[in-house]
Amino acid sequence: METRDNFTGKIGIVLATVGSAVGLGNIWRFPYEAGQNGGGAFILIYLLCVFFLGFPLVMAEFAVGVKAKANVVGSFKLLAPNTKWFLVGIMGVVAGFMIMGFYYVVTGWTAEYFWQAIQGNLLHKSSEEYKVMFDSFIASPIKPVIWTVIMIALVHIVIINGVKNGIEKVSKVLMPMLFVLMIILAIHSLMLPNAMQGIRFMFEPKVENVTSYGVLTALGQAFFSLSLGMGCLITYASYFGKDTHIPRIAFQVTLLDSLVAIVAGVVIFPAVFSFGLQPDEGTGLVFVILPTIFQQMPFPIFWSSLFYLLLALAAFTSVISLHEVVTAFVKEEFSYTRKKAVTLVSVAVLVLAVLASLSLTLLFPVIFDKTLFEWLDFITATILLPLGGVAVSLFVGWYVDKRILLDVLQQEGTWKFRFFKTYIFLLRYLAPVCIMLVFVHNLFA
Ligand code: PFF
Repeated sequence: METRDNFTGKIGIVLATVGSAVGLGNIWRFPYEAGQNGGGAFILIYLLCVFFLGFPLVMAEFAVGVKAKANVVGSFKLLAPNTKWFLVGIMGVVAGFMIMGFYYVVTGWTAEYFWQAIQGNLLHKSSEEYKVMFDSFIASPIKPVIWTVIMIALVHIVIINGVKNGIEKVSKVLMPMLFVLMIILAIHSLMLPNAMQGIRFMFEPKVENVTSYGVLTALGQAFFSLSLGMGCLITYASYFGKDTHIPRIAFQVTLLDSLVAIVAGVVIFPAVFSFGLQPDEGTGLVFVILPTIFQQMPFPIFWSSLFYLLLALAAFTSVISLHEVVTAFVKEEFSYTRKKAVTLVSVAVLVLAVLASLSLTLLFPVIFDKTLFEWLDFITATILLPLGGVAVSLFVGWYVDKRILLDVLQQEGTWKFRFFKTYIFLLRYLAPVCIMLVFVHNLFA
């Protein structure tokens, strides 16, 4: 038996978890979903979901991982032997696999933009031209596929050589840099003409813009961004020490993650309105707007290269966590060596991600109105993650022994968790009912 790693120290824990949470979800997916779903109201609902549902569920997943010290499926098997709860874990592994299928593709796009930025090719174009550039790039059957393969190979090498911790150490410096850079960009955006229109779009909740689908999307985005609902946090928490203050770390992760998303919005939306573009551009939003912003700044090559490099790194730490969910499952449940498990997962993901990338080209048919890429995104973020969230809240709220739960949360009585009753109420009733309502409403909408 190989031993399970442990995260070294508290900083390592927060970093790795924030590394998982902060990624393309915040900087690429959040702005485009907000833009497509009407702005203010979507963002308000997203924030409500993050703090009232996301945060308690992050705690619940942490508690399961700390107690069970196993992969997602193993954790359910250990805490609920001879029951069907482990199926929730299987659903998580499937979700993780499917998310990787499109996440690697977008990580590849980031790498391409980094490559173009350092060569100085992201200059002197109008937003219209950047749009054409992006559209023709993703529709090409070769370049995006090559980048996807390179990204999978890189992550594979990182994981197999056990330098994952190295990446986390590097990101300790680089992630704050990404954050500072985004604040600089946000200030720049706020000074553009018509910037206030973008801010109003983000922060003025217009009730008439709320659709039932928008609410489900906001919920899904909250879960996606927090890496919630598929056992990623269970898997990471299984490497936490017993002395982890779960509510505190859960709160830090939740706060940081949503802050990055909001700052990304403040970078994007003022610029969208200032350049006379539409906020509902879709997956290309960030790839069209950001080059337009960069080229107006002094030293555009420097800033744009740095940004795409850091964004790729943020994507990297997230995709590593996704890989880990599936790898830990394969390794522990089938008793494979770590190397064999990692390789198997990488190869399987390679096939799916290449297909997802090709699905954006004309070579591939659109299936029921969506490409494979869009299906993977839709099924995971709007179906599997919310369902996973319901399952975890029911599991921890009803099934897990309350004394054990309290013990884990209070670090064996080191401090007192005063809101435990409220917390249990939330897990038992509020969270599952809210999520299911949104869900069912959509089925019949
Ligand atoms: N939270 C990541 C992001 O926002 O980019 C994506 C993600 C990572 C989702 C890990 C789920 C997961 F398990």
